[in-house]
Amino acid sequence: MSTESAESTRQGRTALVTGASSGIGAAYARRLAARGWDTVLVARRAQRLDDLARRLREEGTGTRVETLVADLSDPADLARVADRAAGDDIGFLLNNAGINGYGPFADLDPALLRKVLDVNVLAVTVLARSAVAAMRERGRGTLVNVASQLAFAGSLPPGPLPERAVYGGTKGYVVTFTRTLAAELAGTPLHVQVLCPGLTATEFHRSRGEEPVEGREQQVHEDGGMPVHQVVDASLAALDTGDVVCVPGLRDTTPVDRLTEAERTLREAARRGTP
Ligand SMILES: NC(=O)c1ccc[n+]([C@@H]2O[C@H](COP(=O)([O-])OP(=O)(O)OC[C@H]3O[C@@H](n4cnc5c(N)ncnc54)[C@H](OP(=O)(O)O)[C@@H]3O)[C@@H](O)[C@H]2O)c1
Repeated sequence: MSTESAESTRQGRTALVTGASSGIGAAYARRLAARGWDTVLVARRAQRLDDLARRLREEGTGTRVETLVADLSDPADLARVADRAAGDDIGFLLNNAGINGYGPFADLDPALLRKVLDVNVLAVTVLARSAVAAMRERGRGTLVNVASQLAFAGSLPPGPLPERAVYGGTKGYVVTFTRTLAAELAGTPLHVQVLCPGLTATEFHRSRGEEPVEGREQQVHEDGGMPVHQVVDASLAALDTGDVVCVPGLRDTTPVDRLTEAERTLREAARRGTP
C-alpha cells in the first residue's frame, strides 16, 4: 500500500480521549486501541500519559499513540486540545475528564466552582464543537460525553446526596446537552452518546480536582463502585445499539423511555399553560 493510501485509510481512525491518565478514560483508551484505534491521550499528568502510551505500544495493537498534556480549565490549553479535536483523523471523541469539587456550596472557594464548570461543562462543549464540525464535514464520527447518574438522582428523596449541587448541575448539563445534540444530529451518520455511570471504582473521590492525584500508579477511592471495564463495556454496547443515553448496569431501557414520556407530559402541560 502506498504511503498516501495508508494515510487515507487512517482518516477518522483516531480517538481523542480526555482524562486518559486514570479511571474510565484510561480503560476506554485501552479498549479503543485494542479495537484498532489510534489514540490521543489528554490529561494534566504527563507521566501517567506516557506510561499508558508505552503500555498501549507494548500491547502491540499496532496503533499510534500521542499524548497531549493539558489542563482543560486553562483557556490556552483548551484551545490547543480543541485544535487537535478538529483534526482530520479524529473519528471518536471521548469527553471524559471531570472533577467533583464536592463541598458545602456556600463554603466552596469560587475558584474551585469555576474550575468544575470549566472542566465539566465548558471543555466538554468546546471540544464537542470542534470535533463535531469536523466529523460532519467528513460524514462520520462518534462523540461520547461522560455525565453521571447523579444528573438524575442527585436530589432524590429520602436522602439527597449532600455537597455536590454544582457537580450534579454540570452533569445535568452534559445529559441535556448531549440528548439535545443527538436529536439535532439524528439522521446523520454521527453517533452521539451520554454515558451516565453510577459510583465507579476509580480515583475520582481522592481529589476535589484542584490538583491531580499524586502518584504514578492508578489508585482507587475507598467508596467502591463498578469496575471501569464494565462501564466501558456498557458504553460500547450502547454505541452498537444506538442508544443515546447509556446507564451502565441498566439492563432494560424502559426507565429511560419512561423518563422521555414524563418529559413529554411536562412539555404538553407547559404548552397548555395549565395552572
Ligand atoms: N468514579 C465515579 O464514581 C464516577 C461516577 C459517575 C461519573 N463519573 C465521571 O467519570 C469521568 C471520569 O472520572 P473517573 O471516575 O475515571 O475519575 P478519575 O480517575 O479521577 O479520572 C478523571 C480524569 O480527568 C482528568 N482531569 C481532571 N481534571 C482535569 C483538567 N483540569 N484537565 C485535564 N484533565 C483533567 C484526570 O487527569 P489529570 O488529573 O491527570 O489531569 C483524570 O484522567 C468524570 O467525568 C466523572 O465525573 C465518575
